[in-house]
Amino acid sequence: MKEKRRVILLLVKFLVFNIVNATSFSDLNLKRRGADDCKPVVVAHRGASGYVPEHTLGAYALAITMGADYVEPDLVMTSDGHLISRHENELGHTCDVSQRPEFANRYRTQNVSGKTVTGWFSEDFTLAEIKTLRATEPIPLIRPGNARLDKAYDIPTFQEIIDLVKALEISENRTIGIYPELKYGLHFQNLGLAMEPKVVDIFHRNGYTEKNDPVYIQSFEVSNLKKLKKLTNLRLLQLYGAPTARPFDQAELGTWLTYARMATPKGLANVAEYAAAVGPQKSYIIPRNLANNLGSPTNFVKDAHAAGLEVHPWTFRAENVYLPKEFQSNNSSIAFGDLESEIKAFLDAGVDGLFVDQPDILVRVRGQCSD
Ligand SMILES: *[C@@H]1O[C@H](CO)[C@@H](O)[C@H](O)[C@H]1NC(C)=O
Ligand SMILES: *[C@@H]1O[C@H](CO)[C@@H](O)[C@H](O)[C@H]1NC(C)=O
Ligand SMILES: *[C@@H]1O[C@H](CO)[C@@H](O)[C@H](O)[C@H]1NC(C)=O
Ligand SMILES: *[C@@H]1O[C@H](CO)[C@@H](O)[C@H](O)[C@H]1NC(C)=O
Repeated sequence: MKEKRRVILLLVKFLVFNIVNATSFSDLNLKRRGADDCKPVVVAHRGASGYVPEHTLGAYALAITMGADYVEPDLVMTSDGHLISRHENELGHTCDVSQRPEFANRYRTQNVSGKTVTGWFSEDFTLAEIKTLRATEPIPLIRPGNARLDKAYDIPTFQEIIDLVKALEISENRTIGIYPELKYGLHFQNLGLAMEPKVVDIFHRNGYTEKNDPVYIQSFEVSNLKKLKKLTNLRLLQLYGAPTARPFDQAELGTWLTYARMATPKGLANVAEYAAAVGPQKSYIIPRNLANNLGSPTNFVKDAHAAGLEVHPWTFRAENVYLPKEFQSNNSSIAFGDLESEIKAFLDAGVDGLFVDQPDILVRVRGQCSD
């Protein structure tokens, strides 16, 4: 364990060195491998979140050194309008805020995108306050190894993630993509903290402006993606939740759009008017049967491709508890099973990219990628 921590500290030192030296190497841009040059695209879900607490610079850096094409930060807002990387605006599950007496008075209950949530919320903290918190592993019982890195990292800003990516592009000699998800778009808009212009502004200021740049911006909502379409040429990705669920903004608007309707050929054609890709729950592509075995592939990939959309399903995870029964290695829910075989089944179904918590495994399955 000491060893793991030492390696990660070394990695971070190396990165800082690279960041300082990054600008002088920008001409390498022209030659190096692109983030979309190898198929399927490896999207490191929350970083290498199977090995290091999610949404930390350590998790993103490890994902990149493992060969991921894209790092996938989830974004929420601070009270003073900064984008930070957390899976939820409720912070209690992913950092040490509950152990911090000075923030006890921020504990409250509110309605977030239709759900009652109790805890500490990003929108009640300034960035300076957020920077005093330390990240922790949200699923320590499944990932006890990660929990040993609790409090090793702080909570990164979106700009810090871009800086890390640009630094590692030098040592990796390849372009690394950035794949942010806007969380609770309507919620933050209603608070006067709209995320869409901020994300676009930061991307544009960092030189990411065009359709072919290594970026996807994703959301489970619809209105914010349509708004983004007007603000930027960067690629957008529509996420799909459970088939019977409605995107939260659509429910608020009173439309009857469900994800199931968005998954029909007609629904996909509508999505293709604003998005370049779709990110469905993996059951849209290969559902599981009642015995928790993989069933037969649906027409989803074919229909999405016919609409001109790429397909990047989520989430591929190596622990037995997440795998179809036939790929579980034993009765320990936290031991790794045969993720390789699950991935191969989805590659056979024609997907273009995968969200994965253990990016090294997908990189290995993909095999030789010429550059
Ligand atoms: C970087 O990669 C490109 C091709 O992707 C290759 O031509 C070039 O030699 C590499 N540069 C270094 C320093 O390895
Ligand atoms: C939360 O908001 C949704 C709609 O915005 C509403 O339908 C729901 O009743 C609210 N829940 C609570 C507990 O206030
Ligand atoms: C789990 O345990 C059950 C009952 O002992 C056994 O039948 C089954 O084969 C085990 N599964 C695996 C994957 O080892
Ligand atoms: C499950 O398999 C892992 C290795 O893959 C092993 O370390 C662990 O002891 C096994 N657990 C059980 C309950 O068999």
